[in-house]
Amino acid sequence: MKNHYFDYAAATPMSKSVQSAMQPYFETQFYNPSAIYLEAAKTKKDTTRARELVAKILGAKQSEIIFTAGGTESDNLAIQGVMLAYPDNNCVVSAIEHEAILAPAQKFQHKVAPVLPDGRVDVKKLSSLIDDNTVFVSVMYANNEIGTIQPLSDIAKQLNIIRSDRRARGITTPLYFHTDACQAANYLRVLVHSLGVDLMTLNGGKIYGPKQSGILYVASHVKLQPLMLGGGQERNLRSGTENVPAIIGFAAALNETENLRESESKRLTDLRQYLLDEVIKKFPHVHANGSLMHRLPNNIHLTFRGVDNERLMMDLDERGIMVATGSACSASNEDPSHVLKAIGLNDKDAQSSIRITLGRHTKKTDIDVLLTALSDIL
Ligand SMILES: Cc1ncc(COP(=O)(O)O)c(C=O)c1O
Repeated sequence: MKNHYFDYAAATPMSKSVQSAMQPYFETQFYNPSAIYLEAAKTKKDTTRARELVAKILGAKQSEIIFTAGGTESDNLAIQGVMLAYPDNNCVVSAIEHEAILAPAQKFQHKVAPVLPDGRVDVKKLSSLIDDNTVFVSVMYANNEIGTIQPLSDIAKQLNIIRSDRRARGITTPLYFHTDACQAANYLRVLVHSLGVDLMTLNGGKIYGPKQSGILYVASHVKLQPLMLGGGQERNLRSGTENVPAIIGFAAALNETENLRESESKRLTDLRQYLLDEVIKKFPHVHANGSLMHRLPNNIHLTFRGVDNERLMMDLDERGIMVATGSACSASNEDPSHVLKAIGLNDKDAQSSIRITLGRHTKKTDIDVLLTALSDIL
């Protein structure tokens, strides 16, 4: 039986060219980049090149790129790092953030900004939650469940107004803007200055690179505390011997996805539209969740009222078709999703919903197999 994979938001297969780029660093170039003999210096040089490439794609300085072990670590370093540096201050996070932001937020004074029914953050409400003690705001670039693209530049504009007002009143508390761009990087530009962010999370495992690889972009003016203390690697912000293959692999994956961004966005938008049109034709009672306009090209999120999503997922699985219920980004996802709750779905509808995410290897034939299976099962 051939497999048909529709869960690219959970994991992407590693690209062949990324694998080849990484290979030497497991074997011939295995050296610790902090060692001083010539061979190790070469390895160090290669990690510097990888950092330069990532910085160039982000429009950042290479000293602003901190290599980490993925999205969870980068999100934690961002929120905890800043909040530990400003223990008397508070943060504001959106209601649909990944748990890697929502869970650490619980440790600090925090407020949660609601989203509108289409899944976009309510920028006015978010601004009204920011007080003179707010030091950190986190809103993801695109949501991992419903694919909604957030109005980052509108938020950045509001934050600039608040910063100017603070300056005028002699308040020196900074206001840092972080975005988790793990899901966005395949399809949207990640130029940090255009986005107006001070910190940004990226994750190799979502961009056809290695899992447990990623970066946190930290603008040079941001003050934050490291979570990992030790040998002082990564500008003292993330101690530990560098995972050189992961660093090389992450940079290669980001570069490749940057080159494919336009063509893949177009191809997947068309495929997604075909899937959506056919689903609506076949199942008139289906509901598509989240904004259709401000949405990642590869995401579709459907509620089949009265259908148990776990059962549907298992029936599809038996036919070799892999879709997701919930986000699959957490080890246990038995509770109805906080994202679906935030956009107003009741528990019953949330438990009748599935996420279908397309990717580089999705073809029209895969979609036809999915449509036939849905017709058979439902
Ligand atoms: C938006 C977002 N942030 C953070 C993460 C966490 O990434 P990881 O589990 O690879 O650390 C994920 C994926 O799981 C994600 O989709």
